[in-house]
Parts: sequence; structure tokens; C-alpha cells
Amino acid sequence: MSTPALPLPREPGRYRIGLVCLGNICRSPMADVVLRTRVDEAGLSASVAVDSCGTGGWHVGDPMDRRAAATLTAAGYDPVHRAQQFDPSWLDDHDLLLAMDGANLADIGGRSDRVGLFRDLDPVGTGGEVPDPYYGGDSGFEEVLSMVERTCAALVAALPAALSPSSEHERSDREQA
Ligand code: 4NP
Repeated sequence: MSTPALPLPREPGRYRIGLVCLGNICRSPMADVVLRTRVDEAGLSASVAVDSCGTGGWHVGDPMDRRAAATLTAAGYDPVHRAQQFDPSWLDDHDLLLAMDGANLADIGGRSDRVGLFRDLDPVGTGGEVPDPYYGGDSGFEEVLSMVERTCAALVAALPAALSPSSEHERSDREQA
């Protein structure tokens, strides 16, 4: 599987990723918790920051939806979260902003070099949306978790090259020699 290229960080050696959905209590918090966990496991937590927000402000300050939290807990994650609302400053503060669906992407101003869909990085169904599970049953949260786990694995695999592009190039040059 080829590793996707991420935009280079604004500040060399540090990478900030923001995850965006509508309410910031279901999809983007689940992705936030899983991505932080994977970043930590990869030994990258000193240089990679992860946070999440919603384009709507209804749930600001709330913990995540109890079904989202239960799904994460059952899979071994710690579902710590407080909801925040998107602000245009996120576009300047983050190296990469990933929206869960097309409406979320449109609401933050659409695609740019640093803004796209979360599932652009999903090796299965690349470029799809993460469906909103809020009004559905528990199976929707399981489906979100599968997409999130796959996509976070691909994202974390791509981070070392973005964090130190020259050493990665040197390594691939050595491997090809
Ligand atoms: P999320 O799901 O965008 O994945 O957090 C939703 C949560 C709350 C609402 C909509 C979607 N709501 O309308 O309150």
C-alpha cells in the first residue's frame, strides 16, 4: 500500500491536525481519540497535536455522545472529550484539517492544500464520507469506528515523511540504491 503525502508542516518538526464534523460529539471526537492513541503508540505525541471541533455550536463544552463513548470504551480507548466549535482561525492554526463529510467540508470553506475529507486517507473507499451516526442505531457507531481506525493507521504511517521530509527522502534513496 502506498503512503499518502501530507502537506508539509508550517513549523518544521511539529504537526497539528484538526478533525471536523457537525456536532463534535460523535464522529470527530471518535477520530480524535483514536488518532491521539495511534500517534502516542507511534512515539510521535511530542511533535503531533490532534484536536477536533464541530461546525455547529449546540454541544460546546459537552462530553461525547454516550454511544460514541461506549463504542470507544468497548474497543479499549479512553473517550475523554469536550466539544468545541469551529472558528476560521483553525484554518491558520492547523497543518491539516479533515472534515467528516461534504457538508462539513463546505461549511469550513471547501478544499485547499491543507483542507480535505478525512476519508481521502482511507485506503478502503478513498474519498468517501463518514456517515453521521447521531440519529441512527449503535451499528452506525461501529461503522464509524472501523473507518476511523483504518484511516488513522494510514494517517499515522504518513506522518514521519511530513515531519522530516529530507530524512525520509534519504531513506527511500538508500532503499532504492
Ligand atoms: P457529529 O454528529 O457531527 O458526528 O458529532 C452530530 C451530533 C449532534 C448533532 C448532529 C450531528 N445535532 O444536531 O445535535
